[in-house]
Amino acid sequence: LNYHVPRTRRDILEILLKGLHRLEYRGYDSAGVGIDAGNGKDWETNAKSIQLIKQRGKVKMLDEEINKQQDIEMDVEFDVHLGIAHTRWATHGAPSPVNSHPHRSDKTNEFIVVHNGIITNYKDLRKFLESKGYEFESETDTESIAKLVKYMFDNRENNDISFATLVERVTQQLEGAFALVFKSVHYPGEAVGTRRGSPLLMGVRCDHKLSSDHIPVVYRSTTKDKKGCTALPRSDRDTCLFPVDEKSVEYYFASDASAVIEHTNRVIFLEDDDVAAVVEGRLSIHRIKRTAGDYPARAIQTLQMELQQIMKGNYSSFMQKEIFEQPESVVNTMRGRINFENNTVTLGGLKDHIKEIQRCRRLILIACGTSYHAGVATRQVLEELTELPVMVELASDFLDRNTPVFRDDVCFFISQSGETADTLMALRYSKERGALTVGITNTVGSSISRETDCGVHINAGPEIGVASTKAYTSQFVALIMFALLMSDDRISMQPRRREIIQGLRVLPDLIKDVLALDDEIQKLAMELYEQKSVLIMGRGYHYATCLEGALKIKEITYMHSEGIMAGELKHGPLALVDKLMPVIMIIMRDHTYNKCQNALQQIVARQGRPIVICDKDDYETAKNSSRTIKVPHCVDCLQGVLSVIPLQLLSFHLAVLRGYDVDFPRNLAKSVTVE
Ligand code: G6P
Repeated sequence: LNYHVPRTRRDILEILLKGLHRLEYRGYDSAGVGIDAGNGKDWETNAKSIQLIKQRGKVKMLDEEINKQQDIEMDVEFDVHLGIAHTRWATHGAPSPVNSHPHRSDKTNEFIVVHNGIITNYKDLRKFLESKGYEFESETDTESIAKLVKYMFDNRENNDISFATLVERVTQQLEGAFALVFKSVHYPGEAVGTRRGSPLLMGVRCDHKLSSDHIPVVYRSTTKDKKGCTALPRSDRDTCLFPVDEKSVEYYFASDASAVIEHTNRVIFLEDDDVAAVVEGRLSIHRIKRTAGDYPARAIQTLQMELQQIMKGNYSSFMQKEIFEQPESVVNTMRGRINFENNTVTLGGLKDHIKEIQRCRRLILIACGTSYHAGVATRQVLEELTELPVMVELASDFLDRNTPVFRDDVCFFISQSGETADTLMALRYSKERGALTVGITNTVGSSISRETDCGVHINAGPEIGVASTKAYTSQFVALIMFALLMSDDRISMQPRRREIIQGLRVLPDLIKDVLALDDEIQKLAMELYEQKSVLIMGRGYHYATCLEGALKIKEITYMHSEGIMAGELKHGPLALVDKLMPVIMIIMRDHTYNKCQNALQQIVARQGRPIVICDKDDYETAKNSSRTIKVPHCVDCLQGVLSVIPLQLLSFHLAVLRGYDVDFPRNLAKSVTVE
């Protein structure tokens, strides 16, 4: 929303589409924009009609569709304008223009809305609204929100009801998760956004001084309007943010900071049930009532993220860039936290809770997808160094089982985005049961990092590729650092701790050595890319690598791939092995080495021709393999950081050779904010 910042329609569309491009990794099956339709000199009149343009496919397709529209005048200048846009990952209703956002209240676009999340009671809402004569055009849950806001407007008790009040009334009827932004012809130049469960932040761009560096929250229960109703007030000067001297200002609403960072690094993270309204260039934040623990103001934070961090640079895809960034990203995870001279670890985010964590009875690591694998990968060393039972749980299953959680449990929530719905639900579930909660996330200000009692930011930098790579290795390192911290004062463990810390010191260089195998791995991909299946086998520290490698291959190459625990080989998977089935094995010189050799023999005896990821100087293994990928040796519990990289590279090359879009795998999204 630009307020007294002249922008042409071309500029506005460009800002919206660029923002969508930056968020495209979250969903990309259709996209749409809603802007003011008028072309006159007076912005208020222009805002009395809204134009929607929507298209199936990636944001590029929407861009092309916009360029095809003959009747859009691109050079009209708007002094005040609100445009909203959305890129979708279908939950209800197939990808199509009519199912894409913004959704509208009626054929004349009186109210439009964009939504991230799922409305679980939409069927009831739809039935109710249909009974009142509202006609639906899409199959989505979101459309009921657009109709509901019009219903609230049509049935308002007085004419000067604020836009924020209407939205607040709408959200009181909604169940599920949402981040919403509304625009209406009845409220020209005004924007209202709100969230519950799905992330929403605001960016503020203003070259002039702002009235404050925080905004007090307005509680409806304590504010009455002119007529004495407890309706939300339109923003007033004491409870809003505005540029001093009424100067120009621009506000952005977005699901994450990457969409706004090129315009401003000043952001406000909205809390669940905040209703943020911009009226006449002033931003105010409303809530129904103050709840315990709710801080009655929202701070404007300055983000450190650089635009360059979310650009591809010379790489062909974000995934490739992120794989090659790993020598630096693991350094960033460790930066300032490990003293390699006296072998100590400091984690500022856990400082106040570490004593309590050390007294706990059990650690539970809870996550989804790749983040879950980071838990599997580090479980053994956590058990070793903490001497505590460690459970590793998939968030969805943890919830399905109503897993018993106790006050003396410590629950870890591992999440790159910090927004994954299942992980977030599991966090709330564990909190309710009194467990201490720890977040391991890559996104400052994310829901998980805010709602946990304490935590560690992995500092890997923004990860855009849907298939997670550098976040995995950084989560891995962060969890190892936690294990080291827990065993800080155990005398018997000092030699082992020293060994691991010195291993971490050389890890970035060893990662570089593994990345140097890229050409070799590309050649391997050329031999494998027409296959239908790949089996990946290993055990001990490398079982997680098998799961993670297989997930990478599935996600972006659409080949069937399975990570197999080599200890289970004889209990079924061996039946899959013949001379044609591609098998990748991971055999490292650790305590499982001999058992892995047995597995290798069993595969070879069935005419299998395994490709083996092994230690550099392991000639024994090389003798029995059809091919080896040799990685440098490091401390056993860190070796998984090195063994996964060849599989990341392999999945990348396989996807390229199969002609798929590496960063945008079909049917998937980077951040799954729906259950
Ligand atoms: C999605 C992504 C995966 C990711 C998983 C968990 O499925 O495609 O790459 O591992 O979510 O995401 P989180 O942000 O919680 O780590």
